[in-house]
Amino acid sequence: MCGIVGYVGEKQALEVVVSGLRRLEYRGYDSAGVAVIADGRLEVRKKAGKLVNLETLLGEDPLPQSTTGIGHTRWATHGGPTDRNAHPHVSEDQQVAVIHNGIIENFAELRDELQAAGVHLSSETDTEVVAHLLSKAIPAAGFDLVEAMRAVCRRLEGAFTLLAVDPRQPDLVVGARRNSPLVVGLGKGENFLASDVAAFVEYTRDALELGQDQIVALTSGEVVVIDFDGNPAEVRPFTIDWDASAAEKGGHDLFMLKEIAEQPKAVADSLRGRIGQDGHLQLDEMRLADADLRAVSKVVVIACGTAAHAGMVAKYAVEHWTRIPVEVELASEFRYRDPIVGPDTLVIAISQSGETMDTLMALRHAKAQGARTLAICNTVGSTIPREADAVVYTYAGPEIAVASTKAFLTQIIASYLVGLYLAQVRGTMFADEIRAIMDDLNDMPQKVDLVLDTVEPVRAIAREFANAPSVLFIGRHVGFPVALEGALKLKELAYMHAEGFAAGELKHGPIALIEDGVPVVVIMPSPRGRAVLHDKMISAIQEVRARGAVIIAIAEEGDEKIVAFSDHVIRVPIVPTLMQPLVSTVPLQVFACEMATAKGHDVDQPRNLAKSVTVE
Ligand code: G6P
Repeated sequence: MCGIVGYVGEKQALEVVVSGLRRLEYRGYDSAGVAVIADGRLEVRKKAGKLVNLETLLGEDPLPQSTTGIGHTRWATHGGPTDRNAHPHVSEDQQVAVIHNGIIENFAELRDELQAAGVHLSSETDTEVVAHLLSKAIPAAGFDLVEAMRAVCRRLEGAFTLLAVDPRQPDLVVGARRNSPLVVGLGKGENFLASDVAAFVEYTRDALELGQDQIVALTSGEVVVIDFDGNPAEVRPFTIDWDASAAEKGGHDLFMLKEIAEQPKAVADSLRGRIGQDGHLQLDEMRLADADLRAVSKVVVIACGTAAHAGMVAKYAVEHWTRIPVEVELASEFRYRDPIVGPDTLVIAISQSGETMDTLMALRHAKAQGARTLAICNTVGSTIPREADAVVYTYAGPEIAVASTKAFLTQIIASYLVGLYLAQVRGTMFADEIRAIMDDLNDMPQKVDLVLDTVEPVRAIAREFANAPSVLFIGRHVGFPVALEGALKLKELAYMHAEGFAAGELKHGPIALIEDGVPVVVIMPSPRGRAVLHDKMISAIQEVRARGAVIIAIAEEGDEKIVAFSDHVIRVPIVPTLMQPLVSTVPLQVFACEMATAKGHDVDQPRNLAKSVTVE
């Protein structure tokens, strides 16, 4: 949701900034823009559309050499995706350029005040007001951009990461953050600012997490961080544990294909080092005391999108293993009702990015009610794990494609680890039972690999149905969230109507959607798990088939009964019931990816979406 890069150093700022924007384009691709300081002047180029449009413009109208610059890739909130609304926004005196991620909630009031003072606003954005406010604040701040930023930030409400440059201080980039991400990259004779470390990991792996309401002054030799009151602020250094190649396509045509292929490794990495020398499960990042975990009487999972589906899968396992009730709630709903949570509630926020605003706000709401909080997150240095009491990282490596794949599998793994840890601490499972499940989990990288080796036929099936007006997905038990995830992937990527249903609910309404030729993807439970579920699923298939549905079944090897009831059978390896989502989701990811490709869509950057949604 808008990507931001800033650079000061010895290199050509434009090159660093544009390469950073390329890595951040997953955050938004409605427009892109850069500002550099050269010969005591601000130079700005910006263009609607993807980064490539800006690059073309830069070819036609090159920027002068410069070692200080900022850049932005936009996901539009206030004002359409036009050249005019693209960032950077510049003050009337052409002295201050600003880029922004977030939403300034009191912008209308600030705009009115500026207009009343005779300022002409040339865009529809909330960001532009900041450029004008800074320009007005600078003389009063002794022509110091840092002080001006401090004064302006104290007036802003909402969520914002801001970067600003001013040619009167040519070797300085000033950043500010509240509720939106901003990290510092520490180089030698150069420093970086970005929404995500991916933007600068090719230059440095040393980074600083910034806290809430902090301002950073970046020069080539120094990084100074203060709070909005001007006091020195505490920052946390960290080392990025992956290198630039992890954020490249690595020989694949699409990031999504690469990330699908990486799933065995991602699952293995998420499981690595979890068993201690004493044979017990250990979660190094777990900062919650055992006594607090023993006191937990309810678990509430809060998340959005794919992460919420991972939470739904986890509910089946965690309740089974711990006998603690687990609620799963969309973060955006949780915050605005009156949820019953207290000190004996464990609230688990699942978020790949660690920056999703709905999840962050729900987490804060839970903390304010006294709940114990735990983050399951993929992004070290992001806000949600920093604010939660405890964190379990998913170690999936950077996920760039907007549609989540490896994050989903590893979120399931991490929440299973939390469930098993709770069972261990509370004594609801024997140590050997926990180890047996860990053994099953440790088999999963190889099983997922097997799915990838045999997934090819899915592509032909996807192409066959590429023109279907609608695709339905049905599942039961852990297959139900998988059905939801399969449908979400298809909506996101192929822009087609797709719905996931609990198979048992079909007859209560959705069956009315079935007509001749409608493809129904059925996530088959194992006949070895609970045979009754398998039988019930066959009944559901019969019901929709009788009304003309075409059945695409995802079924385990050896399930021969399904063959007579399906038009296509996609095989997945035999795994224990609770592990099934880890294999049955993979063909659905491939299905959606292939369908989108067949329709000629941009798979990695689907329309209207952004990977990290940092607005509510
Ligand atoms: C966006 C993405 C989804 C993702 C969701 C939650 O909507 O497009 O793929 O599942 O945000 O993201 P998070 O980073 O919190 O897991």
